[in-house]
Amino acid sequence: MSVVKINVLTVPPEMRETLEQRFAARAGAVESSDGFEWFELLRPVEGTDQYLVYTRWRSEEDYQKWASERMGPAHSGEGQRKPAATDATLWSFEVVQHAAPKTG
Ligand code: HEM
Repeated sequence: MSVVKINVLTVPPEMRETLEQRFAARAGAVESSDGFEWFELLRPVEGTDQYLVYTRWRSEEDYQKWASERMGPAHSGEGQRKPAATDATLWSFEVVQHAAPKTG
């Protein structure tokens, strides 16, 4: 069963552009991680001020493995510069149902 891990980032309005630029220049390492299924950076439009970093993984173990190693290239900027986010919270979900458009 797939799992969804969402990093919820609180970003002050004046730091939005910085955050989006950092993601535009992201390492791109996650694409090659075992069990990685999806990534989206979601910009808030209505109802919240928080950005969501949406990721989906084949299993909890696959996420944990990436998470334990990601402080390498994927988050290389952290610790060396001021974070754009003032707060970060991790949400975890299990995929119960899903649908995709019919093909053909
Ligand atoms: C203190 C916590 C965190 C902060 C402030 C943060 C912020 C950032 C930023 C600014 C980037 C852009 C690249 C860079 O600057 O290195 C990034 C990359 C990324 N973050 Fe985080 N992050 C945090 C933890 C997490 C967690 C827990 C997840 C799990 C969902 C996550 C998922 C990702 C992904 C998938 C990328 C792209 C990596 C790639 O391209 O290989 N982050 N993060």
